[in-house]
Amino acid sequence: MAKYIVLLGPPGAGKGTQAQRIAAQQGLVHVSSGDLFRENLKMETDLGKLAKGFMDRGELVPDDVTIAMVKERISRADCVKGVLLDGFPRTPAQAKALDEMLAGLGQKVNIVPLIAVPAEVLMARLSGRWTCPKCGHVYHQVYSPPQKTGLCDEDGTALIQRDDDKPATVANRIRVYTDQTAPLIAYYHDQGVLAEVDGTLPIEAVTAQLIKAIG
Ligand code: AP5
Repeated sequence: MAKYIVLLGPPGAGKGTQAQRIAAQQGLVHVSSGDLFRENLKMETDLGKLAKGFMDRGELVPDDVTIAMVKERISRADCVKGVLLDGFPRTPAQAKALDEMLAGLGQKVNIVPLIAVPAEVLMARLSGRWTCPKCGHVYHQVYSPPQKTGLCDEDGTALIQRDDDKPATVANRIRVYTDQTAPLIAYYHDQGVLAEVDGTLPIEAVTAQLIKAIG
């Protein structure tokens, strides 16, 4: 039976960090809508060009293109055993589209861990984040530093900071989460699949809670 898990939480809650730790262990493919957009940006596709303005402003990319992009990704053969979704869905329309998509496959969203972190912690997390542009591994200069400053532990590539981690853009991303994504907490609670975990704990402790929630 395939497993479909949606990691919910505000920007900087640790969705990407946790997805990288859990996906392989659970035999799931990590599908991050933000990473898919960033790949399109890098390859200068039409989708990447369209997404850029929204991402730079910390706004959501329109539902229709986002849904089509994720639908295409999770319909690929490698996702047959299930998916760990990170950053999608982010609006009620995206959540409904995901439900319909999975119903068409005879599947459903099994569990939605909500990584809860208060707004005041998020800014410190995102301003100290460094990412490997090659493998996508996420670091933090204080909470999760690489062994050699500025270089990825996995492949030695020079780490970069994301353009949308500037303070003004982060503030808007948190606002957008509160307005457009937080309503999904009630949506999944009503479906009986929400499981809140304390995202303020150290990374390993959050992983342990998530594994327990996923079962
Ligand atoms: P996206 O890439 O999805 O960004 P996000 O949801 O804002 O989340 P982040 O990647 O910033 O944070 P995260 O929760 O993954 O935290 P991380 O693990 O890195 O989206 C970017 C943009 O793309 C959007 O603004 C939008 O424009 C567009 N987009 C994407 N999906 C879309 C959709 N579905 N619809 C429309 N538009 C969409 O951790 C953050 C930092 O904290 C790291 O440095 C990490 O090392 C550190 N850290 C993590 N956990 C801990 C811990 N427990 N303790 C201490 N430090 C920790």
